[in-house]
Amino acid sequence: MLILGIDTTCDDTSAGVVKNGSHVWSNVIASQHKVHARFGGIVPMIAAREHTRQINLIIAAALDEAGITFHDIDAVAVSNHQGLLLSLVVGVSAAKSIALALDVPLIGMHHLEGHVYSNIMGRENELPFPFLCLTVAGGHTLLLRVDGHGRYHLLGHTRDDAAGEAYDKIARRLSLGYPGGPIVEKLARNGNPFAYDFPRPMIDKAHFEFSFSGLKTAVVRVIEAAEKAGESLSTEDLCASFQQAIVDVLVTKTIRVAEKEGLSRIALAGGVAMNRQLRRDLQQAANAKGLRTFAPPPDLCIDNGAMIAGAAWYLLHHRGPSPLTIDVLANAPLGELGLKYRPASKYAGYDTAR
Ligand code: KG4
Ligand code: ZN
Repeated sequence: MLILGIDTTCDDTSAGVVKNGSHVWSNVIASQHKVHARFGGIVPMIAAREHTRQINLIIAAALDEAGITFHDIDAVAVSNHQGLLLSLVVGVSAAKSIALALDVPLIGMHHLEGHVYSNIMGRENELPFPFLCLTVAGGHTLLLRVDGHGRYHLLGHTRDDAAGEAYDKIARRLSLGYPGGPIVEKLARNGNPFAYDFPRPMIDKAHFEFSFSGLKTAVVRVIEAAEKAGESLSTEDLCASFQQAIVDVLVTKTIRVAEKEGLSRIALAGGVAMNRQLRRDLQQAANAKGLRTFAPPPDLCIDNGAMIAGAAWYLLHHRGPSPLTIDVLANAPLGELGLKYRPASKYAGYDTAR
C-alpha cells in the first residue's frame, strides 16, 4: 500500500511516499528557515503563506521522486493535530482535495505520532511494544510510554519551553541564526561544558515534568552581565555548558522513568534527537543500566511527510480512515492523560473531534 504523507505543522512543508509503513520511496522537505531567520523565530502568518506557496510543488516533487503519479496512491495521510493552526490548514486542505479527487482514504494524524513512528517504521521487530519515547523538538518535549499501536501514556512533558525552543532562543539572543539547535551544537563541540554551572531544572524531582525556561534565563543573565561589564565571553563555552545542562536533564529523567516503568527500550524522536551529544549520552547511560536506545535516521527526525505516511499505514489498520470533515487542532495532547482515543474498530469511521 502506497501512502502519501503530508506535514505542514510548523515551518517545514513536507510530503513523502511510503510503502507499507516501512519503505520510504520519497521524503521531500521545503524548509522555511531562511524566511524566518531574520525574525529569530517562526512567524505564524508567514509560515502559512510559505506553505501555500510550496505545498503543490512539494507534493509533485514527492510523487516524482517516488517515480509514481497521483493514481498510484492508495491513501493520503496528513497531520491535522498539534501545530500552528493556519499552517495545519494548508496541509489538511491539500490532503482532503487529493483524497476526494482520487477517492482514496484520508488519514488524519497527530503530528507527534509521526515522530514516535519514525522509530517503528520497518523496525517493529527490533522495537516491540512497550517502549519509552522521548520526543524532543522545537514545539514539544515529552516522555511517552508507547503500549501499542495508537496507545500512548503521557508520563511527563515540559511545563514551559520545549528543549528545541530553548536552543532556538539562546541562539537568537546570541544572534547566531535559526534554527538554533544545529548551530549551538556545532559551537558546543569546541567549548568547555563545565565553564558555566547552569541549573539542571527539576532534575531531582520525583515527577517527570521538564522546565527549560529557567535554564534559558540563566544563560541570558550570563550574556547580559558580560555585556554590562563590557567583557567578552566564549560563545563556545556558553553553548557547551548550556547543552550539557539540557542533555543532563533529558538523560537523567529519561533513564529514571524507564527504570520506574520497567521499560528496557528507549526511543528518541524529534528535531533535537539529531543532537549527537544527546544520542551519545543517552546511549551510554542506558547501556550502563542494561537498557537499549533507538533513534530514527536524521531525515526522519525533523518534521517530514514520510513519518506521517509511515505512521498512518500502521494506524489505518487500528483506527480506520478519517472523514473528509476532519478539523485542525493547534493544541492536542497525545496520550492517555490527555486525549482519549476511541477503541479500535476496523474502518469504523472517525470522530471529527480527534
Ligand atoms: O521536529 P522539528 O523539526 O520540529 C518540531 O516538531 O518542533 O524540530 C525542530 C527543532 C528546532 O528547535 C531545532 O533547533 C532543533 O529541533 N534541532 C536541534 C538540532 N537539530 C534541530 N536541537 C539540538 N541539536 C540539534 N542538532
Ligand atoms: Zn515535529
